[in-house]
Amino acid sequence: MAQITFEEISASDFFYRNRDIAGFTNPTRAIFAAIRELVENSLDAAESIKVPPDIYVRLSFEGEASQETQIYKLRVEDNGCGIPPRHIPSAFGQVLYGSKYKLKQQRGTFGLGGKMAILYGQITTHQPATIISSTSPSSKIYMYKLMIDIQRNRPIILDRKVFLNKEGWRGTVVEFSLEGDYLRAMPKILEYFKQTAMVNPYANITFVDPKGRLYKFVRATTIMPDPPKETLPHPYGVDVELLQRLIQITPYNNMLEFLKNHFHRVGEITANKFLEFSGISPSKNPKKLSHEEIVKLMQMLKKFKEFLPPDASCLSPLGEELLKTGVLKELKPEFVAVHQRKPATYAGHPFIVEVAIAYGGEIPQRGGFVIYRFANRIPLLYDEASDVSVKVINAVNWRRYKVSPDMPIAIVVHICSTKVPYKTVGKEFIADRPEVRREIANGLREVARQLQRFLTRREHVDRERKRLGVFGKYLPKIAEFSTKLAGREKPPDIEKLLRSVRRFGAEGV
Ligand SMILES: Nc1ncnc2c1ncn2[C@@H]1O[C@H](COP(=O)(O)OP(=O)(O)OP(=O)(O)O)[C@@H](O)[C@H]1O
Ligand SMILES: [Mg+2]
Repeated sequence: MAQITFEEISASDFFYRNRDIAGFTNPTRAIFAAIRELVENSLDAAESIKVPPDIYVRLSFEGEASQETQIYKLRVEDNGCGIPPRHIPSAFGQVLYGSKYKLKQQRGTFGLGGKMAILYGQITTHQPATIISSTSPSSKIYMYKLMIDIQRNRPIILDRKVFLNKEGWRGTVVEFSLEGDYLRAMPKILEYFKQTAMVNPYANITFVDPKGRLYKFVRATTIMPDPPKETLPHPYGVDVELLQRLIQITPYNNMLEFLKNHFHRVGEITANKFLEFSGISPSKNPKKLSHEEIVKLMQMLKKFKEFLPPDASCLSPLGEELLKTGVLKELKPEFVAVHQRKPATYAGHPFIVEVAIAYGGEIPQRGGFVIYRFANRIPLLYDEASDVSVKVINAVNWRRYKVSPDMPIAIVVHICSTKVPYKTVGKEFIADRPEVRREIANGLREVARQLQRFLTRREHVDRERKRLGVFGKYLPKIAEFSTKLAGREKPPDIEKLLRSVRRFGAEGV
């Protein structure tokens, strides 16, 4: 009889075995995902201290790995907050370790991305990663060389050095080698940078590719959105586990204070109303609640209708001005309309949808809309068909707005939230939540109406221009003919009239 053996694996072992779910599927996807994960970390790091990001990415060729794949060295440098030295080994050498497990809008969510890139590099090249970081212009610079002990999910420190920070540098450098297929990945990588520049118009991004080609995305503004604040859980989104954890850590010994201090938008009045509604005494000590009482508390929290919706101060949308700046900078369209929806919620998580529609200019005409999807300012480039935005765009009756897919039209949808409903840890597409779907649809309708007005106006201008063109063409002939008919010798001076007609046409009515 075959023997069944049971074993336990570590988190890094799990992601080593299942790297596809984090986007590291093949050498093409892996090189794209590695760049993306590191750039996102850098953008988060600079934004967290409200410094316009300066990010330098270099991919250099190191050697052939096989017929199709090569070994590259990837270096990403930023001017962000840096990492305190004691956290560097775990932040880069231990899967599911991070500083972003907070209810706050950030690109990072899972405590995984940077490590997946390093892990992939390690298993394909057996080389350590180098991390250099400084947390302030007056602090020292720390350098670590490390690898990941995949079975134990622990960093292995191979070297550590401390340098004086003579130039007052703050930021982080991450460098490691990995196998990849840059040629295949190139279009997506360049598209990623272009779209990142579009929704982060305050960032300077430089990319040097393996051929030494330089791609520079220069910031169009230094204005940055206000950094998001951390928020408390909203009562509609809690479950029993969360309640138990809060009860364990709470310093408050009565229910009134417990509710007021651990939940989002619960003040004295709401807390009292809720306690009356659920029949719990305000003076009850939360630590004395039985398991059954905790379950009941959770159910009552969901039933109570008077909790205020989450407020959006914990979110940092781009804002209509910045979104417009980004679209104008990267697409140079003839027309753009942007719209930001009011904050909404799903499962107790606040979110804001921003949409833009752009027409003409550098937007290609390719028999379908060009769709740009973003979540917390991250471009989403894969699995377009499964994404909620695409589903909504396809469901809109565009003919109503005199818009057809063969026009040069780009649609931008940005969703920001303290918890973006991603379908995978590779952050490629967003789940189809009815609340999110509704917000996107309403946003699209608004910008579609504006585009319709523009197109109607333009059609009118075109018609007028054509009419005036015809007029300009036949007027000399008419003048000549009528001169003859009237038996005159000299035709009237029509130049003045033609000039004003041309000017009229050029100004576009
Ligand atoms: N360039 C950087 N500057 C400052 N801190 C960084 C940088 N890169 C990574 N970190 C720190 O390392 C942690 C781990 O990064 P990692 O990318 O693995 O996970 P994450 O960003 O938290 O989540 P996600 O898996 O969604 O990317 C981060 O939470 C952050 O604290
Ligand atoms: Mg990250």
